[in-house]
Amino acid sequence: MPRSPAVARTLPSLRRALGDLRARRATVALVPTMGALHDGHIKLVQHAKRRASKVVVSIFVNPTQFAPHEDFGSYPRTWKADLAKLAAERVDLVWNPGVGTMYPPNFATRILPEGPATENLEDRFRPHFFGGVATVVGKLFTQCRPDIAVFGQKDYQQLKVVTRMAADLDLGVKVIGVPTVRERDGLAMSSRNVYLTPEQRAVAPVLHRTMKEAAKRLRNGDDLKAVIADGGRTIESAGFTLDYFEARHAETLAPILSIQDGPVRLLVAAKIGTTRLIDNIGI
Ligand code: PAF
Repeated sequence: MPRSPAVARTLPSLRRALGDLRARRATVALVPTMGALHDGHIKLVQHAKRRASKVVVSIFVNPTQFAPHEDFGSYPRTWKADLAKLAAERVDLVWNPGVGTMYPPNFATRILPEGPATENLEDRFRPHFFGGVATVVGKLFTQCRPDIAVFGQKDYQQLKVVTRMAADLDLGVKVIGVPTVRERDGLAMSSRNVYLTPEQRAVAPVLHRTMKEAAKRLRNGDDLKAVIADGGRTIESAGFTLDYFEARHAETLAPILSIQDGPVRLLVAAKIGTTRLIDNIGI
């Protein structure tokens, strides 16, 4: 059985462990996660291993990116299984701080991103979210000082927000986005998929199917407004409550009027029952 990776839970132990890792001029990759690791996370780790000589995975369910009515309390926590998966990938270090380490008493500083964080996508429905993400990822970057950091493209707006923040704050880390890993029927892997009932799980791939169909029509020259409206109706008639289904500029996330304004990314967020799913594809 592969050996469990070293685990740091306090800042002094993190510094010691990173000092050891860097002793031989290693390059360090960080994969930030909230645990409940699935094959999508493992792809990030494998990508990190190809790009750097040492890999650190952080596992921290970050309270500041959840609104009070959201699922912070019930978010899946699967520590033992996570550690076994990271051992199998021969990860070098797991950074697993407690809430009191990340947010000690009297903590009073936040990073409030603009630009990609304010493009009326996720931010319209989760206004607290990117402030929480930018603050915790900013802290993870300054704590771990990685050379590269690896994120999934599944959270596409988050990837753009973090990339902008790392550049704006001169954090000296190269942010890399890795393509979404999907189930065989197209559903994007997500730690929240465990919330789906069997009936909802059967319907969930509609999101990916609809985006693929929309991308095909757009490539064939169909009118963007009509394609997006049809896609939204398909998703709603499958039983989802639609938050958004939009075509945006793939780099800036700004709204576009036609695919000539691209490169184009289709982004969707919709609720089935109480579970909110997000996904996106390039066209
Ligand atoms: O994508 C996630 O799992 C989280 O938003 C992140 C980047 C680990 C920050 O808490």
